[in-house]
Amino acid sequence: MPAKIKVLMIGDVAGPLGCAMLQKSLPNLKAKYQADAVIVNGENSAENGRGITPKLVDFFVACGVNVITTGNHIWAKKEIVALLSSQSGDRVSVLRPANFPNSAPGSGLTFFDIQVSTKNNSPATPAITVGVLNLQGRIFMKESLDCPFRSADTALSYMRSKTKIILVDMHAETTAEKIGLGFYLDGRVSAVVGTHTHVPTADARILPKGTAFITDLGFTGAYNSMIGMQKDAVLSTFLTQMPNKFVVDILPPAILSGVCITIDTGTGLADKIENFSILDHDVKA
Ligand SMILES: [Fe+2]
Ligand SMILES: [Fe+2]
Repeated sequence: MPAKIKVLMIGDVAGPLGCAMLQKSLPNLKAKYQADAVIVNGENSAENGRGITPKLVDFFVACGVNVITTGNHIWAKKEIVALLSSQSGDRVSVLRPANFPNSAPGSGLTFFDIQVSTKNNSPATPAITVGVLNLQGRIFMKESLDCPFRSADTALSYMRSKTKIILVDMHAETTAEKIGLGFYLDGRVSAVVGTHTHVPTADARILPKGTAFITDLGFTGAYNSMIGMQKDAVLSTFLTQMPNKFVVDILPPAILSGVCITIDTGTGLADKIENFSILDHDVKA
């Protein structure tokens, strides 16, 4: 019988509190879901909530994260450019959206292997290769990127020659663009999950041809913030229409949001998608 694997996908980790929440929660989450792999969006993990640094990449890997996806904030910390440029081949730990121009540093796709343990002392099974693809939407986003749908076609023509197990992070503002990509890739990938809005949606489901889908994973960071930033400055901008400096919120409680996807390794399609949101009042940044 083909093995099943379980993959956790966790929404944008925002600032020091988000990082602390991930570090504290991941061991329990992995045990609870018996997860074989973890994919996290890290585009907001930097100290000020914008971007990611090489040190944070190491932090995520040390926490047990297999692949870090990102989005529009990928370029915010210039130290990451050197790391993205130095990564070569298709086994990288941090991605930028694949539909940035080819001349931009970094890669939008990667692969990693997991070893599924056998339960009945039968000989060890060969490693299972998992692919991850990161894309960014174009509607209400500042960057002029290539079409994410056609970029997905190009990426998948390569990725599907290596594995049927492929997880896609579609970093986009609008629900329609994310749902559209879900249906467009239905049956060709194991999962399409949305990120970027930092608000979890209640539509986790298996699409008709077997792809797991959720419009947005939500985020990991300060629960009483506005998508990770201190609410007062954001509110003040709404009320006065004056510009304000937005500061990342590090006050508990913290929330961590994501999904667990169960994948049939024979077909590469999803059996199940379960969403979760955990609230922690004690975690400290
Ligand atoms: Fe984000
Ligand atoms: Fe974003």
